[in-house]
Amino acid sequence: MSTGAVGQPHPRLEGPEKVTGTARYAVEYPVDDVTYGWAVPAAAVRGRITRIDPDPALAVPGVLAVLHHGNAPRLAPDVDSELYLLQDPVVHYRGQLIAVVMAESIEAAREGARLVRIEYDTEPHSTVLTADHPGLYRPDKVNPNYPTDTAEGDFDARFAAAEVQVDATYRTPAYHNNPMEPHATTAQWRDGHLLVHDSNQGSTPVQVSLSELFRIPRESVRVVNEHVGGGFGSKGSPKAAVVLAAMAAQHVGRPVRLALTRQQIFGPVGYRTPTIQRVRLGADADGRIAAICHDAISQTSMITEFAEQTAVYTRSMYAGPHRRTTHRLVRLDVPTPFWMRAPGECPGAYALESAMDELATACGVDPVELRIRNDPAVDPDQGHPFSSRNLVACLIEGARRFGWAERNPRPCARREGRWMIGTGVAGSSYPARARAAAATATALPGGDHLVRINAADIGTGARTALWQVAADALGVPPERVRILVGDSDLPPAGVAGGSMGTSSWSWAVVRACQGLRDQLAHHSGELPADGLTVEASTADEVRAQRPLARYAYGAQFAEVRVDADTGEVRVSRLLGVFAAGQVVNPTTARSQLIGGMTMGLSMALHEEGVLDERYGDWVNHDLATYHITGCADVERIEAYWVPEEDSELNPSGVKGIGEIGIVGTAAAIANAVRHATGVRVRNLPIRLDKLLGASRLA
Ligand code: MOS
Repeated sequence: MSTGAVGQPHPRLEGPEKVTGTARYAVEYPVDDVTYGWAVPAAAVRGRITRIDPDPALAVPGVLAVLHHGNAPRLAPDVDSELYLLQDPVVHYRGQLIAVVMAESIEAAREGARLVRIEYDTEPHSTVLTADHPGLYRPDKVNPNYPTDTAEGDFDARFAAAEVQVDATYRTPAYHNNPMEPHATTAQWRDGHLLVHDSNQGSTPVQVSLSELFRIPRESVRVVNEHVGGGFGSKGSPKAAVVLAAMAAQHVGRPVRLALTRQQIFGPVGYRTPTIQRVRLGADADGRIAAICHDAISQTSMITEFAEQTAVYTRSMYAGPHRRTTHRLVRLDVPTPFWMRAPGECPGAYALESAMDELATACGVDPVELRIRNDPAVDPDQGHPFSSRNLVACLIEGARRFGWAERNPRPCARREGRWMIGTGVAGSSYPARARAAAATATALPGGDHLVRINAADIGTGARTALWQVAADALGVPPERVRILVGDSDLPPAGVAGGSMGTSSWSWAVVRACQGLRDQLAHHSGELPADGLTVEASTADEVRAQRPLARYAYGAQFAEVRVDADTGEVRVSRLLGVFAAGQVVNPTTARSQLIGGMTMGLSMALHEEGVLDERYGDWVNHDLATYHITGCADVERIEAYWVPEEDSELNPSGVKGIGEIGIVGTAAAIANAVRHATGVRVRNLPIRLDKLLGASRLA
């Protein structure tokens, strides 16, 4: 008996706490005797620290200590090379965090950090990704665990023989995650136990890493992340702040608060790798693809290998019997790239969905129709059936809502005063995965229920969605359910990442609630004072899932206007239609989808890590110089979804929606710019200087 909470709009449960300022973020918890840590970044790109002089910092009133490789607590090696901080004098990239100053006040810590004197022996560095870099190599696999290269049929021969060919290279720059709350931690040691309030996308992995690094039992580490101010992937695994704070707290014997500065986020927490992507499509005159190839180049660091799955999107998106994908990497003297909203799929889709538009133009086929013609019946990569695939439904519904039928396919056909106006479309897909999770459900005397799961709500509304799922699974009104998330003391569940949060967590919540209902059916008399609790884990069920191709899909439509004199681009309309299974909460789902689309707009027009090889780092590492979309850039933005029932996912039938919104958006905008101006921008962002030639033509 469902109470029907799933599918109903509901504001975030914690909304009132957030807007009244009572929701605590990582460095906002009141703590007695607290001290402040301030991290010190390396001012060399590659080399060794030869001398650290802490005295000028220690002379600042209130400064308590300076922690560096010479005096830091020893961490266990072989846990995570990214987290092996302050253990040796080697510098792998500019901005690597190499010391921490602790002080009685944040001002003193900051001043101390400025004054620590550090000398280096430096070596020549290489920090720029190029298509012919001598260090290019083939990694053994790409993230999260895909084959590096794939091949079916005979791409070379069929591409050469194709009536219509597209052969284009697309470039994307480095992108930097900038959650509102930086990577931040309050760390406290007591009797060998470590308590951290930390900003992360999953506190179980943080707990595990800390226990291993500091060689203490897992039970001795508690990680609380009740509220998190965004992450976008950058907080998907433990990062420097939490390790530095824990070391600092151990060293001074007092609690430490440490937040990375905005500038320190540009590097040490990872970023989306720049890419160089060659896409080739060979088709017949009707646009039916015979041969499809996507070769992707990206970078990793000297510290560890991070191999982004850039070309994986092309493996399953469109049909074509002859296909190939490859990934190549270069190790550079740079920070290690990391996850950023739809890592791989997002830049990969920019390239493929742009190439599809080029193919549509070359064949004279409408780009919506071209995608429908190339919709595969089964996954062209693995040959598995799709659990559900509603790309075509999204394209058709999107075209209808957008008014696509009225479009004049000719470029440069619409002009209003100085504005050249164009429209574009792109497909979108993202895997619909789930991972194991555990949860407990408790029935309390008096009719209330408590559901506990170590999910992470990074601002997405996950807590609210799980509460709705729990109410339905328990068959009680939502007001009778309380949900607890964001604490490693709760039953372990995976991170908020890979669009797997709600699918994985709701699965465990449903199983715990169902188990509780079964128990209650056999229970007679009063409930014990602490209630009746059932724990469930989905590990076996998740492992036993049938091998099907499971993806969410979307269709992104954009209208742009380009100033014919200045090349200024405005996105006047973005419209996305998505197929993502059951939508648990339309309010928070819409917010996720338009958030992703807005980030895609930002990628298309603004974001760009500008690297200076002499300096060996990005020159724009703050929000004054690294441009992101602001409210004024978002004119009209609409997100819709088509009804989709998929019984091969999880008990709630949900596909993740955290990432699908960003996939394809930049291509839709680039395709619209091509339609408006005749200029194809294959090198993001679409800055006005790249369009100046076009406006002269117009
Ligand atoms: Mo997302 S980039 O998997 O947090």
